Amino acid sequence: MALAELITERIRRVTGLPRVALHEPSFKGNEWVYVKECLDTGWVSSVGSYVDRFERDLAEVTGAAHAVVVSNGTSGLQVALQLACVRAGDEVIIPALSFVATANAVVHCGATPHFADSEYASLGLGVPALADHLASIVETRSGVSVNRHTGQRIGAIVPMHTFGHPVDMPALMDLAQRHGIAVVEDAAESLGSLIDGRHTGTHGLCAMLSFNGNKIVTTGGGGAIITNDVTLAKRAKHLTTTAKQPHPWAFFHDEVGYNFRLPNLNAALGCAQLEQLAGFVAAKRELALRYADALQDVAGVKLFTERAGTRANYWLQTLILDADVADQRDAILASTNAAGQMTRPVWELLSTLPMYAACPGMDTPIARDLARRIVNLPSSPQLVKAAA
Ligand SMILES: Cc1ncc(COP(=O)(O)O)c(C=O)c1O
Repeated sequence: MALAELITERIRRVTGLPRVALHEPSFKGNEWVYVKECLDTGWVSSVGSYVDRFERDLAEVTGAAHAVVVSNGTSGLQVALQLACVRAGDEVIIPALSFVATANAVVHCGATPHFADSEYASLGLGVPALADHLASIVETRSGVSVNRHTGQRIGAIVPMHTFGHPVDMPALMDLAQRHGIAVVEDAAESLGSLIDGRHTGTHGLCAMLSFNGNKIVTTGGGGAIITNDVTLAKRAKHLTTTAKQPHPWAFFHDEVGYNFRLPNLNAALGCAQLEQLAGFVAAKRELALRYADALQDVAGVKLFTERAGTRANYWLQTLILDADVADQRDAILASTNAAGQMTRPVWELLSTLPMYAACPGMDTPIARDLARRIVNLPSSPQLVKAAA
């Protein structure tokens, strides 16, 4: 049997279903109850008890001291970068292998993405190669790290925990501290993923989470900024809620803010979803074991598994093709999708998109290689029950 057909057959064996999406939300908890309560009480919009509760619950689940919920992950990352004092004209180091929102948020701050390479172990920023790159390009001018080639300040580094697999944050924090550069985590995909027991998104100055419809926990659309710094948390709340000074009736706004609020209706959904996070993570981890088992005798492919010392949420299951069968990726995508088993390639490298092609950065041979060799598999947590 050809590789594409063999993989299709094995995926179908795991999912046990004739048609299966890449990732579907599961609403088997208190979603109806909490959302109905919003409708019954009229508290559907930008304030309400579920907004406050979702923020408390997120802080508890992640171990961050504070969480501020926002309209989506992209707006959350933009504000998180602003909290880190990223300004117009800065460069922000991000992985070339990421979803487009990581770069867009940088540009929404008036800054420029500076692309970095990935590593095979985590699929995210490779810290040793980034260290070499920074050593070659960074010049300290008046105590500030500047790209000597462009003259721009390096405003922040944004690691992204790809498909829920954590970047080596202790090593990255060490590197960033040596250069005096802030770290803002794009933890859109890694709710429930840990490094030595510590939640992703709590190592840097602040982080963004996403609750888009395809994420491990969804609010329909939504996001959050998490941080251990109370001043930053207060500022995040202020900026994302139109910068209005608290007052029972007066409209005094003290700077140009945003309406990036998460409605109570969405927060209600989030509270119900978060109650099930541990179950979702357990199901996804079990699904990974089943895929790894089903594919173990298929030459040329391997399920990507977590790095030692990390506990991944396995948000999107990831097949890595050997380099010598990478040319069969599109045949695998065609065969699996034709058979109703929805699969996807990874993103095009951001540095190759038209609006980002002229941005600065390091050579990205590993990101380029991975971009040819990744296929994401059906990953809904409910597949574990469907196949059982
Ligand atoms: C890595 C990454 N960054 C940013 C985002 C943006 O989040 P949102 O869709 O909530 O704006 C997403 C997901 O959509 C993502 O996967």
